Amino acid sequence: MARRTVKVNVGKGYEVIIENGILKNCGSIVKNTVGKNRAAVITDSNVTKLYLDTVLESLKNVGIEYEYFVFEAGEKSKNISTLSDILEFLAEKKFVRSDTIIALGGGVTGDMAGFASAVYLRGIKFIQIPTTLLAAVDSSVGGKTAIDLSAGKNLAGAFKQPEAVICDPETLSTLPENEFANGMAETIKYGILFSEELFETFEKEPTADNLCEMIEKCVAFKGRTVENDEFDNGERKLLNLGHTIGHAIEKCSNFAITHGHAVAAGTAMIARAGEALGLTEKGTAARAEYMLKKYSLPTDSDYSVEDLTAAALSDKKRAGDKITLVVPVKIGECILKNEPVEALKKYIELGKEK
Ligand code: NAD
Ligand code: GLY
Repeated sequence: MARRTVKVNVGKGYEVIIENGILKNCGSIVKNTVGKNRAAVITDSNVTKLYLDTVLESLKNVGIEYEYFVFEAGEKSKNISTLSDILEFLAEKKFVRSDTIIALGGGVTGDMAGFASAVYLRGIKFIQIPTTLLAAVDSSVGGKTAIDLSAGKNLAGAFKQPEAVICDPETLSTLPENEFANGMAETIKYGILFSEELFETFEKEPTADNLCEMIEKCVAFKGRTVENDEFDNGERKLLNLGHTIGHAIEKCSNFAITHGHAVAAGTAMIARAGEALGLTEKGTAARAEYMLKKYSLPTDSDYSVEDLTAAALSDKKRAGDKITLVVPVKIGECILKNEPVEALKKYIELGKEK
């Protein structure tokens, strides 16, 4: 299947290149994008075993000198200590501002390597090579980078757009089922947000070819949204569909419930609440639930209304006494509702399965 390219026109603009098998040729894309300067490949302990050699070989083939840094896989590594290790590594290996960081991995790698690229020498270039579905459809595009603090997720970070995103959907074939489902939660989100036609394609079993198409469509929607609102002051907040309740579920579970699974439950809950409040077309929640369940994703939470409300209100997206909720109007269209914080409890109550 041919290469698919999505242009994201933010800053000087960059391309998201999607092609099965592209990983073994990533060196030539890196060289065409940023030249033959040195590369620092940042990756995690799982991805190292699967894809690091292919990437290093490809860089070597085009004459790019490299160093690599491996951290322990998982969200628990997305912290100031690993970031500090990465920065020390870059300095020790004498990387300069014309060099490039390559983030090879999922959202944890991309967020952390991206943040390192934003602050090392006050900013050096970086390229994303996503290897999870979540990173392919969402986190590798749009320039949000961050680490977690003890007080919560993604509390320190920067907006830093990549120079390019190189996505090889074949790498998704090694994802554990649970991780693929996590990515499907964010993928289904794009259908509910922007396109009933895209939503309906999730009926088909994901194959190598339709995965490329699905990623291309999601990235195109994300790209347009980020072009209109790079710094998350308005329209970009739509991308948080299911996230207010989802973050509360993650928090209540002490992060034992993963992001995608929590967002899936949050999405179904806000759709049910929307219907109960007359904001959402009848039948929307059932369609969302059906699609989420198809990918073994949850559509409800066992935590109490009180616990979920308290956790949601400590969410960083709360601004003073108002909270911005993303509510589906129907499949393919959502709105931002600015509500007094007291209203959140009602949404959660109405969102629970009866
Ligand atoms: P992750 O990076 O931890 O990857 C999940 C697991 O899959 C890890 O164990 C990883 O080692 C493994 N893995 C990665 N690629 C693999 C492959 N091809 N085959 C087998 N295993 C593989 O997590 P994630 O779900 O990709 O991303 C979650 C993170 O993304 C969270 O920290 C979240 O906050 C962040 N995020 C950021 C944005 C953004 O816009 N920046 C958007 C959504 C989520
Ligand atoms: N993942 C949400 C955003 O990029 O804004």
